[in-house]
Formats: sequence, C-alpha cells, structure tokens
Amino acid sequence: RESLLFLAALVLPYLLGSIPFGLLLTRAAGLGDIRSIGSGNIGATNVLRTGNRKIALATLLLDGLKGAAAIWLLRALGGVGQDLVAGTAVVLGHMFPVWLRFRGGKGVATGIGTYLAAMWPVGVFVCLAWAAAAKLTRMSSAGALTAFALAPAVAWLLVDADHALLALLVGLLIFWRHEANIRRLIAGTEPRIGQKG
Ligand code: G3P
Repeated sequence: RESLLFLAALVLPYLLGSIPFGLLLTRAAGLGDIRSIGSGNIGATNVLRTGNRKIALATLLLDGLKGAAAIWLLRALGGVGQDLVAGTAVVLGHMFPVWLRFRGGKGVATGIGTYLAAMWPVGVFVCLAWAAAAKLTRMSSAGALTAFALAPAVAWLLVDADHALLALLVGLLIFWRHEANIRRLIAGTEPRIGQKG
C-alpha cells in the first residue's frame, strides 16, 4: 500500500501539472499557437503578449490551481512526505508534459499554487516578492527568479526542513527553465511585462 501511494503521489500530480492551460486557452480563443509567439513559453506572462489580459489571467489562475489541487489531492489520499513528492511532481508535469513532447512551461504560476496549498505563508511571501521585484524591474522573469530564490530560506524559517527541500527543488527547476531569460537579463535584452519582446 505504501509503494502504491508513492506511485500515486508521483503520477497524479504529474498528470495534473501536464495540462497545458496556456496552450489550450489561447487555442480556444483563436489566438494561434502560443509557442510561436514572444518567448514561445506556454505561461501567463507570454499569453499576455497576445494582448488578451483575460486569457492571461485565466492561464495564471488555472496553472496555479493545478499546483494547489495536486497538494490537496495527495493530502486527502494520505501518505508520508506527500507535499514534497506531490509538489515536485506537479511542477515537473507542468515543465515536461508528455503531451507536448516534454516541452512545457517554466513553473512560476504552478509553483506559487503549490506553495499556497502546501505552505501558505511561503506562498504569500513568493506572491509579494514576485510582485515587488516585477514592479521594480517591469520584468516577470526577474520577479520570479528573485522570489523563488528566497523561498527555500523562508520555508526553512517558517515551516520545516521538508518544505524547505520542496522549495529548493522547485527553485532549482525554475532557474533551470529560465536559462534563456537569465541570458537575456544579463545581456539587458529581457522584454518588460506586456512587451512583445
Ligand atoms: O512565468 C514565466 C516568466 O518568469 C517568464 O516568462 O514568457 O517571459 O519567458 P517568459
């Protein structure tokens, strides 16, 4: 039973995470293939580059909700260390969805949803730090990188070692998926929020 639960803790969140809301919503709204627009990413920041704020907001909320849903689902099923496993798996599902040949998003909205459900004070911190850094720099990626870099320490202070490890793993994955953004930030060519880029 324990190994079955562990498998469910990996597979169910992965499948939830792999639903590409940004791609599905932009397609349904007739906005074309989001992967050939702006940064090519399927996330809310790139959906905003289509000029459709409502679809961008819906992408942000639904990508966040699937992160939270993975935590709620696995907590309901029970098992040891479920937040760590479910949280990492849902973010991996979003970043590497089998349906898109493993080319998914960057994990910011899904990560925030996961944190809000698994460790809400850290989730709130990441939202505020993202908003503050994004307002200062006018760049979504700079906001996300700042917030997720600080999150492991905040989780360590406010929650426990397991949740600090979750924030560390998700943070490393997010930095990895932002490689192109980091290069552009260093080169000074990262587009501002809403800019087509
Ligand atoms: O949410 C991802 C954000 O940090 C960067 O997205 O499209 O500018 O690469 P994008």
